[in-house]
Amino acid sequence: MTFQQDLESRLAAAVCAVIGEPAAAPVTAATDLRFGDYQSNAAMVLAKQRKTNPRALAQEILDRIDLAGVATADIAGPGFLNFRILPEAYAAYTATLIRDEKLGVPDIGKGRTVVVDFSAPNVAKPMHVGHIRSTIIGDSLSRIARYLGFTVISDNHIGDWGTQFGMILHGWKTLLDHAALEADPIPELLRVYRDVNAATKADPAVLELCKSELVKLQAGDADNLAIWQQCIEVSKKGLQKIYDRLDVSFDHWLGESFYNDQLAGIVEEFLTKGIARVSDGAVCIFASGEFPDEQDPFRVNKENGWTDNPAIIRKADGGFLYATTDLATLDYRVKTWNADHIWYVVGVPQSLHFRQIFDAARRWGLHADCQHVAFGSILGEDRKLMKTRSGDNVQLIDVLEEAVERAAKVIAEKNPDLPAEEAAQIAETVGIGAVKFAELSQNRLTDYVFSWDRMLALQGDTAPYLQYSNVRILSIFRKLDEPFDASSATILLTEDAEIHLARLIARFGEVLPTVIEDYRPNLLANYLLELARGFHSFFEACPVLKSEGPVRASRLALCELSSRVLTTGLGLLGIKVPERM
Ligand code: ARG
Repeated sequence: MTFQQDLESRLAAAVCAVIGEPAAAPVTAATDLRFGDYQSNAAMVLAKQRKTNPRALAQEILDRIDLAGVATADIAGPGFLNFRILPEAYAAYTATLIRDEKLGVPDIGKGRTVVVDFSAPNVAKPMHVGHIRSTIIGDSLSRIARYLGFTVISDNHIGDWGTQFGMILHGWKTLLDHAALEADPIPELLRVYRDVNAATKADPAVLELCKSELVKLQAGDADNLAIWQQCIEVSKKGLQKIYDRLDVSFDHWLGESFYNDQLAGIVEEFLTKGIARVSDGAVCIFASGEFPDEQDPFRVNKENGWTDNPAIIRKADGGFLYATTDLATLDYRVKTWNADHIWYVVGVPQSLHFRQIFDAARRWGLHADCQHVAFGSILGEDRKLMKTRSGDNVQLIDVLEEAVERAAKVIAEKNPDLPAEEAAQIAETVGIGAVKFAELSQNRLTDYVFSWDRMLALQGDTAPYLQYSNVRILSIFRKLDEPFDASSATILLTEDAEIHLARLIARFGEVLPTVIEDYRPNLLANYLLELARGFHSFFEACPVLKSEGPVRASRLALCELSSRVLTTGLGLLGIKVPERM
């Protein structure tokens, strides 16, 4: 049990004794360590409800609360309860973490299934920075949810059935370079897509040819289906290479095409159930009228006031849309996987789409907690949307290569004597870690400025700093004459820096659940930075190898715990740690 949980149950018991009935009494981490480690405003809230004096109520609660051996408490201001954990309680708790594989993290997700929908690039179109963000954030959320005990199903819902296939089919038949496709499929498909796209702009006849190829594909033409199939296969292989490099994996790759057979039936069902109706030949979902305009995703405020903003699920020509597929997808996830939660890690621009889908699904009778985990854009150092010099969208693979190249330089400067092969491996770990951490340490909703120098700095809020902190800890253990066994160590806390390090280690189990309250891996990232800083202060203030006996064993155990939390925490962000740097 974490200190927060422990204090909450002690406080609840005292509150119940004082007011004669159970009442909510939440405890949170203190915002300022000068006042204590934890705080609660329960006395103030309860006093207001009961119209009594908050300080007097707080005092009554403190008279009843049993904090023996755990904490001291006092009342501040109008009736805040402040708790300070005793150093011996931190010592006893961190000692239990030595034997706890999960480092104090509770299984809050037990018995619940969450589907994480992330990455989801479009086949034969470039994977752009939006997909980078989705891939990195989604992977981290999947790892964290799994660690918290959820049953996690990660699904790469690739766009494998879009209108781009009209162009790809036409290009495949007229200008594909088979050797280039063989050698490196994604750039060749991209070239074909771009060339045909340009040709359609120059010559409307080409556009017509593309459209007719698409119609043939959708009608089940065998040749076109075969090409499409091949296109998906090579693209998946190309994507897999990127995912391998990123150490990202999926339980499923159910792309849009997987749901093709369901779409017609779903549209019919929406019609018969009255959730959708025909308008100008198209089948559309309109507002249900249950919500005020401001809250209704099917209403929009235009110049002349509020008007309909329907979601089309079948076009007048019979074609289905992104919304139709997403409804089929949601239905599948709820019925086949028994999803309790579905997290869609997709950029902010699709927010209206998801609000419409979630409301339509609710009206359809699907019950799952659906969340659009949205994120902003990545900006270049000029604060404009990140583009390459030629004005194209930046490709994920180029970002990774450049990161690794730059990391290699940093490492060569730091440690020129590393054998080449090891140096290359470390550069890969550090470069990719840096890109991921730069992403994950940001509030996902704010646009962030991509800066190579900042993300690769060894001193700063970066992955290399955290990786290096861990390397420093590992090097302490390499200096020992005989292997250290933490399991028999007793934790002794006397110095402030030591107490603070123990406090930080004890927080791991409290921080992790907060990440999924609002889907913010940056809370974990920032915690790890704090932990690393706490470790460095400890290491400066408290001699480890030069101390003796039980103090030495205790400090070594704190070093080991720090390394375990850093390694586990970084692992949950999808970041690996090198042994040396
Ligand atoms: N392929 C889409 C895109 O690149 C993202 C799909 C997200 N997932 C979903 N269920 N709609 O924009």
